[in-house]
Amino acid sequence: MTHLWLRAEQRPNEDRTGLTPDGAARLIAQGIRLTVEDSGNRILPTAAYRAAGAEIAPAGSWPGAPRDAIIFGLKELPEDGSPLPHRHIMFGHAFKGQPAGRLLLERFRTGGGRLYDLEYLLDEDSRRVAAFGYWAGYAGAAVALKCWLAQRAGGQCGPISAYPDKAALLADLHAELARELSKGTPPPSAIVIGALGRVGSGASSLCAAMGIKVTKWDKAETASGGPFPEIARHDVFLNCILAMPGTPVLVPADLPGQPRQLSVIGDIACDPSSDFSPIKVYDRTTSWSDPALRVHATPPLDVTAIDNLPSLLPLESSQDYAAQLLPSLLSLDAIDAGVWGRAGAIFDHHMRERA
Ligand SMILES: NC(=O)c1ccc[n+]([C@@H]2O[C@H](COP(=O)([O-])OP(=O)(O)OC[C@H]3O[C@@H](n4cnc5c(N)ncnc54)[C@H](O)[C@@H]3O)[C@@H](O)[C@H]2O)c1
Repeated sequence: MTHLWLRAEQRPNEDRTGLTPDGAARLIAQGIRLTVEDSGNRILPTAAYRAAGAEIAPAGSWPGAPRDAIIFGLKELPEDGSPLPHRHIMFGHAFKGQPAGRLLLERFRTGGGRLYDLEYLLDEDSRRVAAFGYWAGYAGAAVALKCWLAQRAGGQCGPISAYPDKAALLADLHAELARELSKGTPPPSAIVIGALGRVGSGASSLCAAMGIKVTKWDKAETASGGPFPEIARHDVFLNCILAMPGTPVLVPADLPGQPRQLSVIGDIACDPSSDFSPIKVYDRTTSWSDPALRVHATPPLDVTAIDNLPSLLPLESSQDYAAQLLPSLLSLDAIDAGVWGRAGAIFDHHMRERA
């Protein structure tokens, strides 16, 4: 019998989960044994998992789980160097040479466990079966708009924190925007690039919900390779493309000093250290405590580039992601086949490469 163990997330500001109580009930009905760790910050209450029939364990008790349990969480494990003998389902960030990822793989090697990386759960057409992109786009557009509003008040965006749900985020933004527009300020215009993708759809939806005029571009509109003076004619640019070799430069390094209407770049794709990043005016991510990086003083140009945006909307992010992932979890009895088999093979490949 497959035994799935949902661990409590230990990262600060991480209230999301990849399994809802409804999903838990489905897994249990299918004969999967389910243990759920209690968690003080998970957006969905432990009591609902208990009511669904899950066994409840203390937070962080997964190292003592039976050896055949499959440990499931989203983000990183405590970095204590301990060997990892279990099978783990999580975002490992371990296959692109990241320093913390190398250590994680070493822990699997010494423990004999296996990583089924959520980023590499792919269907037969190599498309991801589950991703958080839509709500990242939604939240990222909201933060960019907050940056624009803060500029209108002569400042920079202050600390942000998670919203209980999307309605609370919209109420907050609507109130702020209405205050600004009541002074006679024209509403901002926005351009979303990568608009046909998951992140771009979410960013476009937030703009629509706020009544903001949005220009939507995807590959067809950037096929010329640039330059793209249209970007600087919008107030807010929301970058939502998956950058790769050949991605054109969308914001050149000299743009801040040029005449422009653009005052906020929301780099929702958020890959500033990549050589392929299409935005050349900044080099580091920003954070919840300090969301905006001022890259030019007068007129102001702020970049916001936060790498854990879906956590700002943990309820919707969890519900959406869990719904996408559940069909794969329901097939966990066949962990050597299909989506799990492919993810396992990717792990094996990286372990062999590092041997
Ligand atoms: N900041 C965060 O918290 C966060 C969260 C999730 C995803 N992301 C990142 O956002 C990016 C997009 O993710 P996604 O899930 O939406 O990917 P996706 O594949 O669903 O969408 C990417 C879109 O970009 C378009 N695109 C690619 N190259 C382009 C180009 N040169 N010009 C115009 N459009 C182009 C594609 O056609 C596609 O529509 C990724 O880099 C991802 O890692 C960031």
